[in-house]
Amino acid sequence: MAIILHWLIAIAIIVNWRLAGAAEHLEGPAAAAYMNPHKALGITVLVLTVLRIVWRLVNPPPALRTDMATWERMLAKTVHALFYILLIAIPLLGWIASSSFGYGVDMFGLFQVPALPVANDPDAGKWVIGIHKALWTPMLILVALHILGALKHHFIDKDGELGRMIPGLGKR
Ligand code: HEM
Ligand code: HEM
Repeated sequence: MAIILHWLIAIAIIVNWRLAGAAEHLEGPAAAAYMNPHKALGITVLVLTVLRIVWRLVNPPPALRTDMATWERMLAKTVHALFYILLIAIPLLGWIASSSFGYGVDMFGLFQVPALPVANDPDAGKWVIGIHKALWTPMLILVALHILGALKHHFIDKDGELGRMIPGLGKR
């Protein structure tokens, strides 16, 4: 379950980044064609992340190997904790911003997620969207660090660490 959620969320945030990027220079219905799925996929990431954190509390992952350097364990744990914070904060801020424009989220035409009970205040909404966008840069930096770490374990340490998320790659 943790592995499935890891990969679903990883793919979803990259797709969502590109959806928002595609809408950037468009207006009106053309922008909405990308932004509506962006918002719906974003709410999906929020729900999957909450599920993932609850799942992790109930089913703690196997301990990290003890032969790893202290700095490595601390760096990995810090990156993971920051991931969870951003995976909640980014979509939640998007939802709060949409709500302050008075909109809920249309979930792929299937059902509506209501607007949060915040004041109808477009200026506040724009400010919140600014934070929503600004948090993407630290997210990308974390993703880069995280992938570099995974590759280091796989190709340099050859310690099977990647097998924790890609079953079958565990024995090198
Ligand atoms: C994991 C979830 C999400 C990620 C990774 C994400 C990422 C981004 C990024 C990177 C941008 C900036 C695009 C650019 O200017 O190049 C953006 C813009 C935006 N996002 Fe999200 N987002 C997520 C969820 C949401 C949600 C749930 C909502 C609303 C319900 C939302 C609403 C918006 C809006 C309104 C913009 C501004 C578009 C514009 O500039 O006009 N996002 N998002
Ligand atoms: C792109 C977005 C990604 C995000 C947001 C992400 C997020 C995370 C998080 C939060 C964890 C910690 C799991 C936990 O213990 O709670 C984790 C673990 C892990 N990730 Fe990712 N990941 C991403 C992509 C990748 C990629 C591309 C790879 C492989 C190249 C990868 C390999 C791993 C491995 C091997 C672990 C296990 C580490 C351990 O158990 O200590 N991840 N990831």
